[in-house]
Amino acid sequence: MSHRWKNDLTERDVTPEGAWISRRGLIAGGAALGLAGLAPRAEAAAEDLEPNSWEEITTYNNFYEFGTDKKDPARRAGQMTVSPWSIRIDGMVDRPADYAFEDILARMTMEERIYRFRCVEAWSRVVPWNGFELADLLDMAGVQPGAKYVAFETYLNREEMPGTRFPVLDWPYVEGLRLDEAMHPLTIMATGIYGRDLPNQSGAPLRLVVPWKYGFKSIKSVVRITLTEEEPPTSWNKANPREYGFYSNVNPEVDHPRWSQATERRIGGGLFSARQPTLMFNGYADEVALLYAGMDLTKFF
Ligand code: MTE
Repeated sequence: MSHRWKNDLTERDVTPEGAWISRRGLIAGGAALGLAGLAPRAEAAAEDLEPNSWEEITTYNNFYEFGTDKKDPARRAGQMTVSPWSIRIDGMVDRPADYAFEDILARMTMEERIYRFRCVEAWSRVVPWNGFELADLLDMAGVQPGAKYVAFETYLNREEMPGTRFPVLDWPYVEGLRLDEAMHPLTIMATGIYGRDLPNQSGAPLRLVVPWKYGFKSIKSVVRITLTEEEPPTSWNKANPREYGFYSNVNPEVDHPRWSQATERRIGGGLFSARQPTLMFNGYADEVALLYAGMDLTKFF
């Protein structure tokens, strides 16, 4: 399966990963990285980031619909039907509709974003995503003035998703953002990694990526986006409200009730590699801290 998009960089499809990484220096300095509209600091920070390998990104996953073992998604998600695909955008929007995935791609500006990714379980990696800003998709649907939140829902097919036979979570997987978080330029809908279509285990054909929040906010294989006035329910908060809040911003100073969030284990670093310090807002504080000005981040965790 191959999805084509407006600014398709065809050569990407055949560029080996190693060559792609070495070209990164050229890309990182400029607008091609897709951070053109942001503070220079964001570009500087992005330049330091050495992406994990395709293998590391796509064989150690959380996608509980396919099981709770890190290897289950790569093993089983191949059976998920990802074409045709459409996304229902509804609620407080001017143009509610079922939008075909191809039609969305044709209208969005595709970019590359090299982001840190920090799971609430205290592992992390760096991922070179391809995708578009969620704000552009929401603009396409026309957000109405009263809307305050954005709710997301994952595809659910119990035949294809053996993990949903167990009540680990209340299926379908749902997530949510405040509207200003959703409209933030760092928030993207990813459709690829290393210029290739997302493999199913990574949330094909498109998934949310919110780099300053714990990974579970980055909901996979999205089929519905609803604009609401009320804070929407989220899967992990429903499962365990004491451990998982609505905001879930990466915060080294607020520990998970069962483990420290001060450090993280970088995937691919080797079994004996030192843990590295976790950064406030996962390193994106300059860009997003203002969204939470005046909020008690221990209360709104
Ligand atoms: N989305 C769905 N639908 N189901 C899931 O189980 N797991 C979340 C998030 N999105 C999950 C999901 C968690 S806990 C993490 S850490 C990331 O996906 C993992 O993304 P990755 O496997 O692409 O690294």
